[in-house]
Amino acid sequence: MANPSILILAGDGIGPEVMAEVKKIIGWYDAKRGITFDVSEDLVGGCAYDKHGTPLHDDTMAKAQEVDAVLLGAVGGPQYDNLDFSVKPERGLLRLRKEMDLFSNLRPAQCFDALADFSSLKREVVAGLDIVIVRELTSGVYFGEPRGIFTEGNERVGINTQRYTESEIARVARSAFELARRRSNKVCSMEKANVMESGILWRQVVQEIHDKEYPDVELSHMYADAGAMQLCRWPKQFDVIVTDNLFGDLLSDAAAMLTGSLGMLPSASLGAPMANGRPKALYEPVHGSAPDIAGQGKANPIACILSFAMALRYSFDLGDEATRLEQAVEKVLADGVRTADLMGPEGGTPVSTSAMGNAVVAALNASL
Ligand code: IPM
Ligand code: MG
Repeated sequence: MANPSILILAGDGIGPEVMAEVKKIIGWYDAKRGITFDVSEDLVGGCAYDKHGTPLHDDTMAKAQEVDAVLLGAVGGPQYDNLDFSVKPERGLLRLRKEMDLFSNLRPAQCFDALADFSSLKREVVAGLDIVIVRELTSGVYFGEPRGIFTEGNERVGINTQRYTESEIARVARSAFELARRRSNKVCSMEKANVMESGILWRQVVQEIHDKEYPDVELSHMYADAGAMQLCRWPKQFDVIVTDNLFGDLLSDAAAMLTGSLGMLPSASLGAPMANGRPKALYEPVHGSAPDIAGQGKANPIACILSFAMALRYSFDLGDEATRLEQAVEKVLADGVRTADLMGPEGGTPVSTSAMGNAVVAALNASL
């Protein structure tokens, strides 16, 4: 049987640096566990624009459609700020999401005990936190038509459209309920049904799918603004949160900060099952390209490493190996190894990106 295949799109800024550490982990699985991936690499974002004049070449898009999983680093940088909207680095990422139809974006926010004092919230509020935001990723205001900047009379008007079909809501709701069944069996759905028709439909459809297919799961509904407030007040009341594309973007950044550092959080974007039964999938850290620290060996590779752990679990059916990798990360943090973003109140000497990757490899060795 062919080896499982991975396409690495390291992208811009700190993307290549954090991805270099994931490659060490991939090498470790090959050498020490006999788990061999066919890895290919390509460009996305600003670096793709520099080479091809487009943030995602058609050939790269075609490759992404064929592999078992895509691992993405980060895209963007200030040198691309003035590019035409249609070729901005972010468009490369959005094209991947849309054309691979990755409608279900899992964004876990987990607070490692060793970092509970790093959050801007009190330890008791965040310690032990383990929630997942399921963000709809291929529709809503990110993609709705009409959109654009038009002229009306003597002024310009900027238009975006929030649009959701019933089936788009239903499929992401199902993925949240399925996930909840493997966790604490609890889903909170967030929208703005008090002001938006798309929110009213969202609430109705989530409730219908629940009543027909998942009556065993505990379901609640919350307005997204109140949800943001509750996430800061007492985040442990949640287990799985399901929400639309834009609210999910905002809420997942807020949830990320609860855990102490944006440099810690992985994500999985999943689509419909492929012929082998596994979902089409792209894995990426929640953080961005951090151009201010790029190229300095300061970036925290953990979010990218944990994204690979999610790939092991969701694309390769290697849940035990995913847990091994997550525990290796936990051990490294418990041992006090810290990149610059994890310098808490007590200070200390930060380690480099590559030293953090090496520490995780050492912890993997110790796990054997
Ligand atoms: C994210 C990012 C993206 C988004 C950007 C880079 C297009 O913020 O993945 O959360 O808005 O979805
Ligand atoms: Mg975002």
